[in-house]
Amino acid sequence: MSHSSHSVKRSHVHATHGTAAEKGIHVAIIMDGNGRWATARGRPRTAGHIAGARVVRKIVEAAPDCGIGMLTLYAFSADNWARPSREVALLMRLFRRYLVAETDRCVTNDVRMRIIGRRDRIPGELLRAIQAAEEATKYGKKLDLRIAVDYSARDAVTRAVKKLRGHESVTREDVARAMCDVDHWTGDPRDVDLLIRTGGEQRLSDFLLWECAYAELYFTDRRWPDFSPADLEQAVHQFHSRERRFGAVPEAAAG
Ligand code: FPP
Repeated sequence: MSHSSHSVKRSHVHATHGTAAEKGIHVAIIMDGNGRWATARGRPRTAGHIAGARVVRKIVEAAPDCGIGMLTLYAFSADNWARPSREVALLMRLFRRYLVAETDRCVTNDVRMRIIGRRDRIPGELLRAIQAAEEATKYGKKLDLRIAVDYSARDAVTRAVKKLRGHESVTREDVARAMCDVDHWTGDPRDVDLLIRTGGEQRLSDFLLWECAYAELYFTDRRWPDFSPADLEQAVHQFHSRERRFGAVPEAAAG
């Protein structure tokens, strides 16, 4: 299989210099299993989301100590609008509450918080909270926390292609940059190093398809409300024990 030296280089750059956030690995998490966690306890699905929001706080706090520089959380996919309106409304309220409640802590902990995804369908109150949280935390250097809301990777690719239409030559870097722009990520494009999915399913569900080209995948049966900092540490530990070759042959085996 062919590969590009480009991905190797990018990973090398992030490993050697830059801010603490740039030096750490990029972990993306599909936080699945809230509904089943609640149902198993005879409670409404929304109780699972409320418990899930508490876990988000703990995981964000634990991330820098695990060597994570960028953490991208899948909070709401473009397809999630099809859920019952009560559940959607609860989730939007939870996101807003999280942003309002966590902004000061992010500033104190040197965390830059940004929401990625479409913004044209986000309720006004949440949109204002997003703008305030992003503005207040924009100098964070220790961790780039990105929360994906109304996110779809295919949709991002489609909008990036539209943006680049008419350009004479288009490089991978151009596509990566355009994808950041359409989803309101103002930092540099970064590949995902480790993708974690909780809740027992083993699929990507339209999350960061471009950025996950060489991501290590880690699936756990643990449902998101039960996921702990120790579980995160274990996933990162396993990641470091894997050999990443980006399609190449290891030195020792070459020739
Ligand atoms: C998937 O579980 C989870 C979601 C669609 C919502 C994720 C939201 C949170 C973790 C809480 C709030 C987040 C933030 C950033 C404050 P599911 O409902 O599909 O679970 P199921 O597969 O068991 O039904």
